[in-house]
Amino acid sequence: MCGIVGIAGTRDVAPVLMEALRRLEYRGYDSAGIATLVDGVIERRRASGKLNKLDVVLKQTPLAGHTGIGHTRWATHGTPTEANAHPHSTARVAIVHNGIIENFRELKAELVAKGHSFESQTDSEVAAHLVSQYLDDGLAPGEAAKTAVARLTGAYSIAMIFKGHEGLLVGARKGSPLALGFGETESYLGSDAFALAPFTNRVAYLEEGDVAVIQGIDVAIFDAAGRPANREIKITTASAAIVEKAGHSHFMAKEIHEQPVVIGHTLAHYLDPAGPSVRRLGVGLRPALASATRLTISACGTAYYAGMVGKYWFEKLARLAVEIDVASELRYRDPVYPEHGAALFITQSGETADTLAALRDAKAQGQTTIAIVNVPESSIAREADINLPTYAGPEIGVASTKAFTCQLAALASFAIAAGVARGHLTAEDEKSLCASLLETPRHIAELLKQEAQIKAVAEKVAKARDVLYLGRGPSYPLALEGALKLKEISYIHAEGYAAGEMKHGPIALIEEDVPIIVIAPHDQYFEKTISNMQEVMARGGKVLLISDAKGVHMAGKTWASITVPTTNAFITPLLYAVPVQLLAYFAALARGTDVDQPRNLAKSVTVE
Ligand code: F6R
Repeated sequence: MCGIVGIAGTRDVAPVLMEALRRLEYRGYDSAGIATLVDGVIERRRASGKLNKLDVVLKQTPLAGHTGIGHTRWATHGTPTEANAHPHSTARVAIVHNGIIENFRELKAELVAKGHSFESQTDSEVAAHLVSQYLDDGLAPGEAAKTAVARLTGAYSIAMIFKGHEGLLVGARKGSPLALGFGETESYLGSDAFALAPFTNRVAYLEEGDVAVIQGIDVAIFDAAGRPANREIKITTASAAIVEKAGHSHFMAKEIHEQPVVIGHTLAHYLDPAGPSVRRLGVGLRPALASATRLTISACGTAYYAGMVGKYWFEKLARLAVEIDVASELRYRDPVYPEHGAALFITQSGETADTLAALRDAKAQGQTTIAIVNVPESSIAREADINLPTYAGPEIGVASTKAFTCQLAALASFAIAAGVARGHLTAEDEKSLCASLLETPRHIAELLKQEAQIKAVAEKVAKARDVLYLGRGPSYPLALEGALKLKEISYIHAEGYAAGEMKHGPIALIEEDVPIIVIAPHDQYFEKTISNMQEVMARGGKVLLISDAKGVHMAGKTWASITVPTTNAFITPLLYAVPVQLLAYFAALARGTDVDQPRNLAKSVTVE
């Protein structure tokens, strides 16, 4: 989603802004632009499409200036044209914005009545004109910015530069993240510490309602009430190294292949191989789990499906009642939280707007909030009471792969600990479950060797217009995840269903050219799922079965099959995620889509 960068610098900043924007590309965007002060005057360069187009524009008409802002835009209001690209500006101020200004219509009407004219269809442009109006009214830039942002409703992070004010940069945050970077001779603003990593590792995060007024290396922060505020400067762990594809054609392929290693890192954090046992959870979590009456789980997209798998584990291993909902529903549903309950939020980016809002709501309602997060310095990692990190490393491909399986690894460890804390698992059970979990990286490495066979099957699937995924028990969320992965990167219409639901409607969709992907490890659900599979085949459906050797053998002849290593049923969700990811990846490849940055999608969904 939109990426922001700002520099109060001591050198020509256009190339530096471009470098920072490249580091924000992974968030997903469809236009980009930068603005600098050239001899005190605001100048802009913008382009629709990817950064290489902006690069061409900058080569044709270079931009000097030591103070500047840059933006990658993920369109919300108005198509991704050059006119809608940020920075938006008047003669006096230029702004870049991430988020949605909900009251932009009222503000625009007010400003039009005062003689302002607008060039774009965006909500963001109104912020530039509002600040400009307060400058016209005689306010100094910092005051004009503070007065203007106080009138904005919705979510935003904003960076601004001002005509005639060299070295002045103003940043504001409400709802969307904004980091402040402290250099030796320069100061920076950025959507995340990753964007700022090549310039500085000294970073502070603005809090809700903060406005930062930066003049060169002097920084003044004001809180939502306008009082001077201090925000702790942290040494960020974000790496300045550009994440490379390491010989793979796409980040997604690289990230799929990294899974044995990063799952290993995540498990190493939670499990003691000497036991094996669960060694580490957040402080206070075990007693909270022992007495919890219910656990509420919430997340979005793929992270939500990880949570669904978690529900099966918590119920089975810990006899812990779980309520689960997508964050965009939970936050508006007026949920009934149990007294002293616990609420778990799962997120790769740690910035997903709905997940963050649901966490804040749960906290306000007295829940102990726990977060499984991949980005350590993100808003959710900072705001949750208890932080359970995953160690997937930076995930650049928009489609989540390694973050998902690392979330499963953390959830599985957490569920075992809950089972022990609640007296449902013996030390022997803990040992055996942890031992199975520790085997996961090895099994996944084995599974990845089947890439060529999976590619061949995926190329057949790629010819379909519609695909159905079926699963039962913990394989049901995987069916949902498989369908999501396929549709988001190959644009093939796909749906996931609980296998038992087929007869209640979806079976009407069965036709010869609709592949049905059945995820069915040989576990307690196998016989039932295979009966559902037979019903599909009896109606001419062509089945691709994903199972272990015994399952494939017992199921008999199918259109195609993928054989997954045979393991303890507990860890099958981690293993079966891999063929599901590879199927989507190779189907997308066969269809020639943009695998790492699929159309319309963003990596970090910071608007609701
Ligand atoms: C799908 C995908 C999304 C994310 C979702 C939540 O491949 O990546 O569905 O899982 O947007 O994002 P995070 O985990 O950052 O909260």
